[in-house]
Amino acid sequence: MTTALTILGLESSCDDTAAAVLRGGAGAAAILSSIVAGQTDLHAAFGGVVPEIAARAHAEKLDLVVEQALAAADVTLSQIDAIAVTAGPGLIGGVLAGVMAAKGLAMGLGKPLIGVNHLAGHALTPVLTDGLAFPYLMLLVSGGHCQFLRVDGPEAFTRLGGTIDDAPGEAFDKVARLLGLSQPGGPAVEAAALAGDATRFDLPRPLLDRPGCDLSFSGLKTAALRARDDLVAAQGGLSAQDRADLCAGFQEAVADVLAIKSARALAGQPGLTGFAVAGGVAANRILRARLMAVAADADLPFIAPPLALCTDNAAMIAFAGLLALQAGRTDDLTLSARPRWPLDIEAAPLIGSGKKGAKA
Ligand code: KG4
Ligand code: ZN
Repeated sequence: MTTALTILGLESSCDDTAAAVLRGGAGAAAILSSIVAGQTDLHAAFGGVVPEIAARAHAEKLDLVVEQALAAADVTLSQIDAIAVTAGPGLIGGVLAGVMAAKGLAMGLGKPLIGVNHLAGHALTPVLTDGLAFPYLMLLVSGGHCQFLRVDGPEAFTRLGGTIDDAPGEAFDKVARLLGLSQPGGPAVEAAALAGDATRFDLPRPLLDRPGCDLSFSGLKTAALRARDDLVAAQGGLSAQDRADLCAGFQEAVADVLAIKSARALAGQPGLTGFAVAGGVAANRILRARLMAVAADADLPFIAPPLALCTDNAAMIAFAGLLALQAGRTDDLTLSARPRWPLDIEAAPLIGSGKKGAKA
């Protein structure tokens, strides 16, 4: 029997500085604490994440979130068995800040260091939250990522498709900005869409004519921009109803393409145990309902982890680190920070790198 291990996880690949303590053995793992310090206010004036500002904030906040995570878990550093850290993909300054902090801790404590792929952290979350067995299909939809992954094991991922340009969250944020709504755009667009007519604007469903599971959101974003400009040119501005209708139409188009491509991804992968989602966009109720229906049609359970574990956090990094440690994989002090780090090295690289960093 494996004894329980206590892992300290660190995450700093985008605009959240996070630390978590997780304890796990052969079976289930328990999150003892999970602290996330966001940076939205620091970047608000710039309309996107500024990498240098993010890196500096991570370097300043990492010690603090580690202290908070240890205190909330009621453990001391001496009780930590290993340090897991996001080593990529992401904004390089932030990833470096995390990797350096983790190296310092691992060296000081004389404990193993494990570099974790951020995407693996997201992709393995349904195992942590729901005990989902392999193999399953994961749809990662956030401000920085969008891909379908077949997950066969803690280190066995096959990318079935992904965005060739923007991530859906980026598109939600952009549409909110062009309609004068608040950031982050997803929740603002979802709220405005409640009063909207999704059929009023004829917005595209990009790449549906192409076989496979690749996606594209930049054309949809541009179509929303054009619809707004046409309205402004015709009537001098936008009414609340115009905004609501555009938000509803845009949201419906995103949900349509993600649902259709999800059904396609599932159809090509017999023997799956479930269909899981992660990422901030998975909070969208219209999208969730559509994806749930796709899973039901495929006769599979639909797993959407609680939102705090869908978005960036360090508990998922600690958990992926625990699985790596149990498989006997650790890193040494030569561990490097990687801006790009595809989970599936066999898959052709995706094009594009959005405002939130490389999509790997
Ligand atoms: O996973 P996340 O917190 O951070 C990263 O991107 O790494 O995702 C944030 C993204 C933002 O673009 C935000 O607008 C989007 O998730 N989002 C939503 C909703 N809530 C957050 N998009 C659509 N509908 C929502 N309810
Ligand atoms: Zn993420």
